[in-house]
Amino acid sequence: MLKGRNLIDPMDFSLKELEEVFQLADSIIENPQQYSEVAKGKILATLFYEPSTRTRLSFEAAMLRLGGQVLGFSDANSSSVSKGESVADTIRTISCYADVAAMRHPKEGSAMVASIYSTIPVINAGDGGHQHPTQTLTDLLTIRRTKGDFTNNVIAICGDLKFGRTVHSLVKALSRYKNNKFLLVSPNELRIPDYIKKEVLEKNNIEFVELEKLEDAMQEADILYMTRVQKERFFNEDDYVRLKDRYILNKEMMDLAKKDMIVLHPLPRVNEISYEVDNDERAIYFQQAKYGMYVRMALMAKLMGVCE
Ligand code: CP
Repeated sequence: MLKGRNLIDPMDFSLKELEEVFQLADSIIENPQQYSEVAKGKILATLFYEPSTRTRLSFEAAMLRLGGQVLGFSDANSSSVSKGESVADTIRTISCYADVAAMRHPKEGSAMVASIYSTIPVINAGDGGHQHPTQTLTDLLTIRRTKGDFTNNVIAICGDLKFGRTVHSLVKALSRYKNNKFLLVSPNELRIPDYIKKEVLEKNNIEFVELEKLEDAMQEADILYMTRVQKERFFNEDDYVRLKDRYILNKEMMDLAKKDMIVLHPLPRVNEISYEVDNDERAIYFQQAKYGMYVRMALMAKLMGVCE
């Protein structure tokens, strides 16, 4: 039962509960009209302390397409946060006005703190370099609809594996399914954190290798998950400039890949996928962004208890 629950970490839901969300998302995709008024009278609050295009707007589009309404802020400076209000007091107040809240914050753990003080469901829309569970729902729905299920895949993840919260959430989520292998492609400085390696991959006996060259992953990958270098998490601009263009996926590299490989990217893209790749039918990152709206519709409908 997901009614009234929070989503802070991708592991908060059981596999059965995740499957229920995906089945509802499938049903919404097949028959959106059937769901166009299920959230009539409900309000989503979007509390975005960090910039966003896809996450905030797909949450808002999702609620509007369910027949509900939205309020919130996209810049903390336009709210009383600029006067020093705490996350705890902000969410206590928002709980008086809305039925569900999606929150993005630069500090790791902020969404969890909000969930402690909230009386409405809190959805983590990204907390610092930590987790981004609704991006993971988006990624999983995309994989499910193209590959059929979440097992028996070689998943290459390339770019900023240190700061990329979408990567941390995706590895955690996919580690629950059988017979997957990870190719973790990054510069030495941007390797996946040790806690993911030890507590997620090694603990669950999941095969993985760390690579520095993307070319070395192209032939084996069933799924290629590209990420940008997270400029906003660097302390030193020179380090960012040195690392930002290390990987650029281009047509020649795509020629090395399997015919049924898929390329995902949480977006925004900076330089890491050449525009020429967009025309390749295996490049499905904009379709992925659309699935993000549908899976957020399903998620909110479940948390508000307006759909079984
Ligand atoms: N994928 C993602 O989180 O994009 P935004 O930062 O635009 O929300």
